[in-house]
Amino acid sequence: MRTSPVIPVLVIEDAATARPLAEALVKGGLRVLEVTMRTSAALDAIREMKQVPGAIVGAGTVVNTDQFEQVMKADAEFIVSPGLTERLGDAITGSGVPFLPGIATAGDLMRGLDMGLTHFKFFPAETSGGLKALKALAAPFYQAKFCPTGGITLASAPEWLAFGPVLCVGGSWITPKGASMEQVEALAREAAALAR
Ligand code: 3PG
Repeated sequence: MRTSPVIPVLVIEDAATARPLAEALVKGGLRVLEVTMRTSAALDAIREMKQVPGAIVGAGTVVNTDQFEQVMKADAEFIVSPGLTERLGDAITGSGVPFLPGIATAGDLMRGLDMGLTHFKFFPAETSGGLKALKALAAPFYQAKFCPTGGITLASAPEWLAFGPVLCVGGSWITPKGASMEQVEALAREAAALAR
């Protein structure tokens, strides 16, 4: 979460595009890449992206232990989930792999803290009340750090990143549909230059 200010959230339809995409993102300065488990190409995409020097490739949208086992076989380096269940939380924390579970309420956060977790994805960030909601939520949980994701843009990211407990933000704006690799690299460069 401290490697770069933005974690690109990637939905990859064709694994053949994964490596050039990772190269463009890394070249633009974003090394931490979240490949979502929303397409049948995701596992191959993780394997392909891991070939790119400098890339740190994790799996996102991991919602159950079956998917967790699959992404571990693909050598995912970190796990992101949209929410937190006991079953998934216990499996991942027991494995030692870095885990960023989604939270949106105080109860979610308390469940995560009970599992020994301190770093959370605030999701879906904008529709869960935005920065105002995160500030109110974070106040009693001084030890928690956040990666807000969901509805964040290049324009809104600086405001989120200026809040101390926010270590980075996640977003899909870096890889718009139909963008060329040159465009992705340029968008990554802008995102990587955001101040924290
Ligand atoms: C996610 O999967 O984390 C979010 O859907 C990404 O949100 P965004 O597309 O609004 O950036």
